[in-house]
Amino acid sequence: MNLEVDVNSSDPVVDVASVSVGFPTRGGMDEVVHSISFSIAPAERVGLVGESGSGKSLTARAIMKLIPKPGVMTSGSIAIQGRNTETFTGKKNWRGSEIAIVSQDPLTSLNPLVKIGLQIMEMLTYHKGLSKNDAERESISLLKSVGLPNPERTMKQYPNSLSGGMRQRVAIAIAISCKPKLLIADEPTTSLDVTIQSQVLDLMESISREDKMAVLLISHDLAVVANFCSRIIVMYNGRIVESGLVDDIVNHPKHPYTQALIASVPDLYDTGRERLQTIPGSPPIAGRIFSGCSFAPRCNRTTELCITQSPTLSSNHDSSQNYACHNPIPRVSS
Ligand SMILES: Nc1ncnc2c1ncn2[C@@H]1O[C@H](COP(=O)(O)OP(=O)(O)OP(=O)(O)O)[C@@H](O)[C@H]1O
Ligand SMILES: [Mg+2]
Repeated sequence: MNLEVDVNSSDPVVDVASVSVGFPTRGGMDEVVHSISFSIAPAERVGLVGESGSGKSLTARAIMKLIPKPGVMTSGSIAIQGRNTETFTGKKNWRGSEIAIVSQDPLTSLNPLVKIGLQIMEMLTYHKGLSKNDAERESISLLKSVGLPNPERTMKQYPNSLSGGMRQRVAIAIAISCKPKLLIADEPTTSLDVTIQSQVLDLMESISREDKMAVLLISHDLAVVANFCSRIIVMYNGRIVESGLVDDIVNHPKHPYTQALIASVPDLYDTGRERLQTIPGSPPIAGRIFSGCSFAPRCNRTTELCITQSPTLSSNHDSSQNYACHNPIPRVSS
């Protein structure tokens, strides 16, 4: 896969600055995403990984201003192409055309009462101003490009009559229909078989390259992310614990959690190890407050400091690899 990025403008497509997300409780606020910051350049493909419940989807939904109620963004700001999303009003003018999301559950983004064809055509007539005939032609071609075998038939069907994998492909076709500047893909290929999965990733990759579409790919599958993205952000318990270029993260992880994630993926590390390793213990309950590092109870490098003081994310000027760890893994020279 070609990972080279030809970017004219260095202005980020999205800039997430110290964003926290919480859910109100009787006694106050349960903060489940804590002060997340990152930005994505045009055409850049960034992976967001972490165990279930680490806050990946909520981060994505915060960018889309679609945090499920009663959740709220408790602090921070998000800018899309330099414009604070707080200033965005209305729904359709930016969602879909500037940023599109393929949700983890495609049923939530498809209208069950409207035929698939009409749902895609609506995007194309509204955002791209296509005539009905052109929109129909383009819709069929989009459905074909995501690997649906009989697009003409799919156009006439309702979401409920499609399989989960087919619905996911329709959701992807709708998301890419207006060639958004940023595509947020939340586990977009989890329900697809391997052949369709690689077809869909190839399609997203070619649109990303040709139209400078940036992609935020959220996935449990580190192997998919490592293949598709140039940069990886690792989340644990609502925080970014490490970020950097794919090669650095995969070959020289600094955070023990990143290392453990990598060790639990087949074929990513050719270490000759015979068994995949699992991460001991389970992720903490979201919102639980730790005096030190929230990974410390599961970590094999814990020191006294890790238990008493929460590590902050480093920002290294001489490297793009940042990590929040008091006792990072030293780099072993090969
Ligand atoms: N609607 C909600 N109400 C209350 N808490 C929520 C809600 N949605 C998410 N959370 C909390 O926020 C945490 C992060 O959720 P999020 O959906 O972002 O996780 P995720 O990293 O996307 O997990 P997965 O890999 O399972 O999709 C969850 O552990 C959950 O406790
Ligand atoms: Mg999720």
